[in-house]
Amino acid sequence: MRTRLLEPTAAGLAEAGRLLRGGGLVAFPTETVYGLGADARGTEAVGRVFAAKGRPQDNPLIVHVADVDELAGVVASLTPLARRLAERFWPGPLTVVLDAHPDLPRATTAGLDSVAVRVPAHPVALALLTEAGVPVAAPSANRSGRPSPTSAAHVLADLDGRIEAVVDGGGCRVGVESTVVDARGDTPVVLREGGVTREDLELGPLAGPADGSGAVDGGRVGTDLAASPGTRHHHYRPSCRVLLAPPGEGPQVAARLEAAGERVGLVARDASPPGVLEVGRFEHPSQLAALLYGALRDAEAAGVDVVVVESVPEVGVGRAVMDRLRRAAA
Ligand code: TXA
Ligand code: MG
Repeated sequence: MRTRLLEPTAAGLAEAGRLLRGGGLVAFPTETVYGLGADARGTEAVGRVFAAKGRPQDNPLIVHVADVDELAGVVASLTPLARRLAERFWPGPLTVVLDAHPDLPRATTAGLDSVAVRVPAHPVALALLTEAGVPVAAPSANRSGRPSPTSAAHVLADLDGRIEAVVDGGGCRVGVESTVVDARGDTPVVLREGGVTREDLELGPLAGPADGSGAVDGGRVGTDLAASPGTRHHHYRPSCRVLLAPPGEGPQVAARLEAAGERVGLVARDASPPGVLEVGRFEHPSQLAALLYGALRDAEAAGVDVVVVESVPEVGVGRAVMDRLRRAAA
C-alpha cells in the first residue's frame, strides 16, 4: 500500500474524511501527538489499527469527536462530572473514561464496557472529524512501544506503507498525550498524566451535580496510574538507551559517557559539551514536553548509543514529561 501525504486543505480533508468513512486508516495531527484514526464504529477498521501499530489487543483506543453532542452512540451517558470536565477542558488534551454505549464495537474498547473519549483542540483534527462525520478511534500514530509522533514525518517513519494516508498539520503544540481521567464516579480519577495538569484539574468545583449546586468539593482528584490498560506495556522507547540526568547535570553526565567511548545525544537546559550531539534544548518543562519525542527520534536516527535527558520538577506538565521519560528509560 502507498501511504498518501495529504495537505490540510478543503480537498485534502474531504479525501481524508472519505477514506475514514470507507474503513481506511488516516493519521492526523492533534494538539498532543498525531493520532492513527479509523471509524470507531467499524470493527474491521479498528482491527486494522491494532495490526498496523502492532498494538497489544488488550489496550483500548480513545474515540475522538468534534463536539460533545457526537458522543451519542459512543458513550452510554455523560455523568455530571463528565459534563463539567467537558465544559471546562474541551476542546483540549483531556480524555474522559465513561460507560460505553452498547452498540459501540468492543474491538474499540478492547473488550471493556468503558470507553475513553476526547474532543481535541487542533483545528485540523476538528475539521477532519467534522468532515468525516463519524466518531474516530485514534491511538498515537506510532508503532507500538515507540515514541509518539509529533510530526507527519514521524508517522511515516513508523507507518509508511501500512496506512492509507497522513494529514500533515505541522508540529504538535503540547507534545505529550492527553490526560486520561475516569469520570464514571463523582470524583475525577487520573489514569494517565498528560497535557491537562493536575493543578488544572484541582482548580475548580469539578465534583458535585452539573448545575453547580452543592459543588463544594472541588479539589478532590484521585489517581490510579495502574488502572489504565496501557500501563501494562512498554512505551515511548527509541532504539537507543535513554538515561535520566538530575536537573542541571545533563552536560556533565553526557561528557562522562562520551569520555567512556559512547556516542551520546543530549537534551538539556544548557549547551552540549564537545563531542556530544545536542538533540534538544529547553528552558521551561513545557518546551521539553513539546520537543521530547522528536528529540528521542532524532537521537535514534543519528545513531547514538545513549540519549541523556535532564529531569524537570514534577509539577504542571513536568509530571507527564517525567512519567514518559521513566517509561522510555525503563
Ligand atoms: O493525546 C492523546 O491521547 C493521543 C491523541 C492521538 O489523541 N492518543 C493517545 O492514544 O495517546 P493511545 O492509544 O496512545 O493511549 C490511550 C490511552 C492508553 O493508556 C489506554 O490504556 C487508555 O488511554 N484507555 C483507553 N481506553 C480506556 C478505558 N476504557 N479505560 C481506561 N483507560 C483507557
Ligand atoms: Mg500511545
